[in-house]
Amino acid sequence: MVSRVIPVESFDLVIFGGTGDLARRKIIPGLFRRYVAGQIPEEARIVGAARAELDDQGFRALAAEAIGEFVGPAKREGDAVERFLAHLSYVAVDAKGEAGWSALKAKMRPGVTQAFYFSVAPALFGDLAERLHLHGIATPEARIVVEKPFGRDLASARALNATLAAHFTEHQIYRIDHYLGKETVQNLMAVRFANILFEPLWNARHVDHVQITVAETVGVGGRGAYYDKSGAMRDMVQNHMMQLLCLIAMEAPYRFDPDAVRDEKLKVIHALEPVRPEDIVRGQYRGTKDAPSYVQDAENQSSTTESYVALKVNVANWRWKGTPFYLRTGKKLRARASEIAVVFKEVPHSIFGEEEGWRENVLSIRLQPNEGMTLSVMIKEPGPGGMRLTEVPLDMSFAEALGADGADIPDAYERLIMDVIRGNQTLFMRGDEVEAAWAWTDPIIAGWEGRGDRPKPYDAGSSGPEDALMLLHRDGRRWREIRE
Ligand code: BG6
Repeated sequence: MVSRVIPVESFDLVIFGGTGDLARRKIIPGLFRRYVAGQIPEEARIVGAARAELDDQGFRALAAEAIGEFVGPAKREGDAVERFLAHLSYVAVDAKGEAGWSALKAKMRPGVTQAFYFSVAPALFGDLAERLHLHGIATPEARIVVEKPFGRDLASARALNATLAAHFTEHQIYRIDHYLGKETVQNLMAVRFANILFEPLWNARHVDHVQITVAETVGVGGRGAYYDKSGAMRDMVQNHMMQLLCLIAMEAPYRFDPDAVRDEKLKVIHALEPVRPEDIVRGQYRGTKDAPSYVQDAENQSSTTESYVALKVNVANWRWKGTPFYLRTGKKLRARASEIAVVFKEVPHSIFGEEEGWRENVLSIRLQPNEGMTLSVMIKEPGPGGMRLTEVPLDMSFAEALGADGADIPDAYERLIMDVIRGNQTLFMRGDEVEAAWAWTDPIIAGWEGRGDRPKPYDAGSSGPEDALMLLHRDGRRWREIRE
């Protein structure tokens, strides 16, 4: 199946932090892939803006290198790179001073969609917002894109929202959570709301529990300074995992419309019960003879920051009362595997008596790698000799089903940047959502800080700390295996 590409209107996109890591790894390669797909019109302009004294040629060289490194050769055929680079230019700007702003203003075209990507440290968001206004650059319809971390607690998130709100209205602000741009995550909404099959079962009467796992094999080496002040709870749970939980737990929005979807997600966050101290396990990886430990990676011998967290949370509403959600995420685990598993209840009465082999139905949604969905169902074991049951998967690999190889599934950033240009905020977090998520997270963190809790050690390459197993065992459940 060939995916449909609808070109966006012409735009001026300014990437503040245009020479930085995110621009090189994600933003520029993502734009290039969209260009190759035919989605970016020939009149579109992309302006790199950063402190470095570069000229257009210098920026194009940097972009060419990034494309060479992060985009597969198949997409770089012919003169595609050359043609794409012709859309790029550069302005040196000082976020905290006056240099460069009039040059930037001169580049912006009247009547064209404007987007400003703040791919810089959050401490500079306010300066950029203010200067865009001071110099009369941003139009009332201009869009700004901001990256995580969006605050480190409720107070700082509120302050950040207020800073942006001083110059931009909510409909102009695009807070990125790249998990929302992942194809499978969007598929979650399609599966739930475009099929009649699942929704009648999607509640506490039929769902025993839900497991959300985001397991990574990477450590924190290279970004220890940021990570050590953050930890898994702030880095992954407050944002990415919270978004996944919301998409699983939310009611059907009345329409696939930005505020309709975000209103429903917000209700879920409000319905989350506080997490009891005994329902949370924090871990920190220790090294092996070949691999460094967390404290070595973070360059902080006395660090008590968690590189792993597992918790149980209840959604206190009519739909979910009694169905726990178990979340876990960690670095240096045995495999890179992210999955949402909806584990259904037992049949009310087994007509097969005590036959061995019965297992619960599980709908597993794999976010990465091998994006797809599996529904495990029970059938009769083939052959004579009585009725024995066996479990088989109804397996759907999204790549296979859609005739795409893995490389053709667009990266989250590609999708999200195009949504900014289209002015579609559905897959972006609203200010109140972010604040509500922090309001739930803050007491959890304050709790363990107050108790002087130390994370449990786990071996690099394992499934995480032993105590995390207990979190489910004591409820008579078990985690699904972490495997690719
Ligand atoms: C980022 C976190 O937001 O998401 C990282 O800061 C994490 O620590 C990354 O590794 C995971 O993203 P993905 O797309 O690789 O699952």
